Amino acid sequence: MKAIVYTKYGGPEVLQVKEIDKPCPKDNEVLVKVHAASINDWDWGLLQGDFINRLLNGLMKPKKKILGSDIAGRIEAVGKNVTRFKTGDDVYGDLSGRWGGFAEYVCTPEKLLALKPHGMSFIEAAAIPQAAMLAVQGLIDKGRIQGGQKLLINGAGGGVGTFGVQIAKEYGVEITGVDSTHKLDMLRSLGFDHVIDYTREDFTKNGKQYDLVLDVKTNRSIFDYTRSLRPNGVYVTVGGSIGRLLQALFMGPWISMIQKKHIRIVALKANKDLLYMNELFGAGKVKPVIDGPYKLDEIEKAFRLFGKGEHKGKIVMTM
Ligand SMILES: NC(=O)c1ccc[n+]([C@@H]2O[C@H](COP(=O)([O-])OP(=O)(O)OC[C@H]3O[C@@H](n4cnc5c(N)ncnc54)[C@H](OP(=O)(O)O)[C@@H]3O)[C@@H](O)[C@H]2O)c1
Repeated sequence: MKAIVYTKYGGPEVLQVKEIDKPCPKDNEVLVKVHAASINDWDWGLLQGDFINRLLNGLMKPKKKILGSDIAGRIEAVGKNVTRFKTGDDVYGDLSGRWGGFAEYVCTPEKLLALKPHGMSFIEAAAIPQAAMLAVQGLIDKGRIQGGQKLLINGAGGGVGTFGVQIAKEYGVEITGVDSTHKLDMLRSLGFDHVIDYTREDFTKNGKQYDLVLDVKTNRSIFDYTRSLRPNGVYVTVGGSIGRLLQALFMGPWISMIQKKHIRIVALKANKDLLYMNELFGAGKVKPVIDGPYKLDEIEKAFRLFGKGEHKGKIVMTM
């Protein structure tokens, strides 16, 4: 089978399309013929080999040589202890921690997968798992979003933000999106009520305040963010600079005690809310924003776009 392999950390140029052996499922695993896969920020970190990802995947060189967590495909074989799926089922899910999704076939434990609804294409399904889970868990589980609130999403034009706005619309909130100039029209068309171009305006310094801020970048001091919160407001981060995240972790309880504003961090529960996403998709309330699809041999180009932040929504590749 064909797979995108990397044997050293680096830029997109270290990714190579190679012919390797097709994997064989263990007793609790299924073999999936991958139809589509999407790129996540975590793939980018694992490719570059930043400090945290080297701790996860090898200090000097990557131990797991095939990236790719979000996949959609058809089950081609099942291990003898598999109970939820059968050959021919269409499935999707986030294989974070195992990876291996940027290949024609991947083996995975059945618990990492959900059935793909008939009306959802493989390309749409591959866009959903990680970004949509972060959006659901950030807005609902941690943010406890409620009708009538003012919500701001920082880094609104990527995976999490484009799902976030559609999920938040369900709650009847007023939503502001912050991203770069060339994404603002797309944000308006997705339903953001207001947009802010971060290259021209710092939302933490314009005097406006929000009940809920969902941040995918976390590149400012936590004190800047709390300035943008109304009394009892909640700031939820899904990721960003490690230094800023540590500050949020340690200062959060103090800020909560002194200012009555709340700082929360999402720890991704992979695949937890896929059935909820199936419901929203089925009701026509959420539609993934797809950049692409790109072909397997366009992987370098797709990663370059992702690395420069030029993508809109989710970059999806077909295998
Ligand atoms: N908590 C967990 O367990 C967990 C697990 C996995 C991933 N994550 C995190 O989840 C996040 C993934 O988000 P995503 O999929 O939405 O990423 P994404 O697709 O890369 O989107 C990020 C967006 O932010 C914009 N942006 C860049 N710099 C910005 C700035 N200074 N201010 C505002 N916007 C800015 C980018 O556009 P431009 O570049 O054009 O500006 C892009 O549209 C990452 O932070 C990742 O580390 C967390």
